Amino acid sequence: MLTLTLALSKGRIFDETLPLLAAVGIVPIDNPETSRKLIIETGQAGTSVVIVRAADVPTYVQYGAADLGIVGKDVLLEHGGEGLYQPLDLEIGRCRMAVATRRGFDLAGMMQRGARIRVATKYVKTAREYFAAKGIHVDLIKLYGSMELAPLCGLADVIVDLVSTGNTLKANDLVAVEDIMPISARLIVNPAALKLKRVRVQPLLDALVRAIAARRAQ
Ligand code: PRP
Repeated sequence: MLTLTLALSKGRIFDETLPLLAAVGIVPIDNPETSRKLIIETGQAGTSVVIVRAADVPTYVQYGAADLGIVGKDVLLEHGGEGLYQPLDLEIGRCRMAVATRRGFDLAGMMQRGARIRVATKYVKTAREYFAAKGIHVDLIKLYGSMELAPLCGLADVIVDLVSTGNTLKANDLVAVEDIMPISARLIVNPAALKLKRVRVQPLLDALVRAIAARRAQ
């Protein structure tokens, strides 16, 4: 039997991923939240999930270590999407990528003066492309989390980060000043797996399309 391996991460989109997978008949037999196992079989014969860091999901799928993966568009943009088929917007994990500053910070004035702006972010590629397209000179500072702290400690003038409820910004007296793009989770597929395992992959894609439509209609 052809096996299928799906790469997932326990990050931001995980809570919404499990119900979507359940709707297409994929239910991990151990709870990935509590289990220390990294390869978890599912109730569907021949289908397993592997639990990796969000930023590693595209890599596992690109190299065929996993046939499919579920990953935020934010992560996918940083990866570049090379060697990945991206057939579906899963419409979960919705949030937006935004530029944020301390409340009252005069970003417009800084830009008018042509001053270089220090931008702290996990999303350096996206941030670089965004500011370059606007013709704004920036110094990018790569961080791996808690971006909100950077303007508070004087590490950066602005951050580029995901905003969902806006609670984290609010709690740290920051405000979103520009929206960069909407973000949601995507299904990614290894192109070779799509061809060689089409009998298994295609029905899963079809079932996901139906589950997404049903969710939208709720
Ligand atoms: C994201 C993002 C913000 C927060 C925004 O972090 O980096 O910190 O969520 O959510 P809110 O608008 O609902 O407050 P995440 O929890 O994904 O962890 P991270 O810091 O590892 O990126």
